[in-house]
Amino acid sequence: MKKTKLFLTLSLVMLMSSFGFSQITGSDHDFSTENWNNTGEICIVCHTPHNADITVPDAPLWNHEVTQANFTLYDSPSFEGSATIGQPSGASKLCLSCHDGTVAMDNFGGRTNGGDFMTGGDLIGTDLSNDHPISFTYDAALATSDGGLYDPTTTNSGVGGTIDADFLLAGQLQCSSCHDVHNGAGLPNLLRVTNAGSALCLTCHDK
Ligand code: HEC
Ligand code: HEC
Ligand code: HEC
Ligand code: HEC
Repeated sequence: MKKTKLFLTLSLVMLMSSFGFSQITGSDHDFSTENWNNTGEICIVCHTPHNADITVPDAPLWNHEVTQANFTLYDSPSFEGSATIGQPSGASKLCLSCHDGTVAMDNFGGRTNGGDFMTGGDLIGTDLSNDHPISFTYDAALATSDGGLYDPTTTNSGVGGTIDADFLLAGQLQCSSCHDVHNGAGLPNLLRVTNAGSALCLTCHDK
């Protein structure tokens, strides 16, 4: 009996440490106690089970007003991704629907007259020319032409599968390539993997 208990306790501890308990609750994306959110809920600011906004392709049951801003894109002479980069799409467009500062945080569930806009260090704005490029294709061909990138279809991401499977969305690099909006890893800045020693950067960049 005692042995069974010990075994169960040990298994539980092992299970807890292998999965971790990092989650959105208590993270910077837990809006349940914000004064601009009177629902007391977390998910509802971004998702709804019914009548979701389907204007952004692949948006997961989206419930937040979507940005209409026109963004200034990243460019540089050595940036090969310029061939496929476009206005922010997919998950990035959803992130920017708060982080560009043009849509109020409390504009969810059909509301469009909210007044709580993003300010301070978390504001990315509509000028993305000074930010890591997003919404472009990162594939084997890009890795070859760039010469300083790992092939995303064969290189391990460090969290289980390939870079393509774990970090890209439909073959594109997006905000979600580096960030986990739900705080799955429990790291500062909602990162997917630690950037200690620039580990995150060195997952994709062969430097
Ligand atoms: C700040 C906005 C935000 C909040 C709050 C949020 N999500 Fe998400 N969620 C997203 C975005 C953006 C995506 C798109 C995929 C991605 O970026 O990982 C997503 C994707 C998803 C998906 C599909 C992909 C996946 O990760 O499985 C599910 C399921 C999901 N969210 C559930 C939830 C639940 C449940 C909650 C509340 C506990 C929640 N989300 C809270 C923004 C949010
Ligand atoms: C290539 C990886 C990468 C991409 C893509 C990326 N980020 Fe980040 N982001 C980071 C890292 C790393 C940090 C931590 C910065 C630091 O420690 O100085 C960060 C920090 C942040 C912060 C915290 C404030 C700050 O500036 O330090 C916000 C907010 C943020 N990112 C939002 C976004 C949004 C929104 C997008 C998409 C438009 C995005 N990020 C795309 C890697 C990335
Ligand atoms: C509903 C609005 C909303 C959406 C959508 C949203 N965020 Fe945020 N995000 C916030 C707010 C508000 C904060 C700041 C919270 C605070 O400082 O209390 C924040 C903070 C952050 C931070 C800083 C975390 C830290 O530890 O400092 C990062 C990184 C970030 N968001 C990335 C993203 C990414 C990536 C997406 C899309 C996948 C996204 N956010 C979507 C509202 C949003
Ligand atoms: C998920 C993969 C991935 C991660 C993680 C990542 N990058 Fe990138 N990064 C890319 C790709 C792909 C490009 C496009 C390269 C090209 O087309 O020239 C790029 C472009 C860049 C560029 C611009 C290159 C140019 O020629 O203008 C810089 C600088 C850069 N990354 C630095 C970083 C840093 C610093 C980090 C860590 C904070 C980081 N990257 C994390 C994939 C990634």
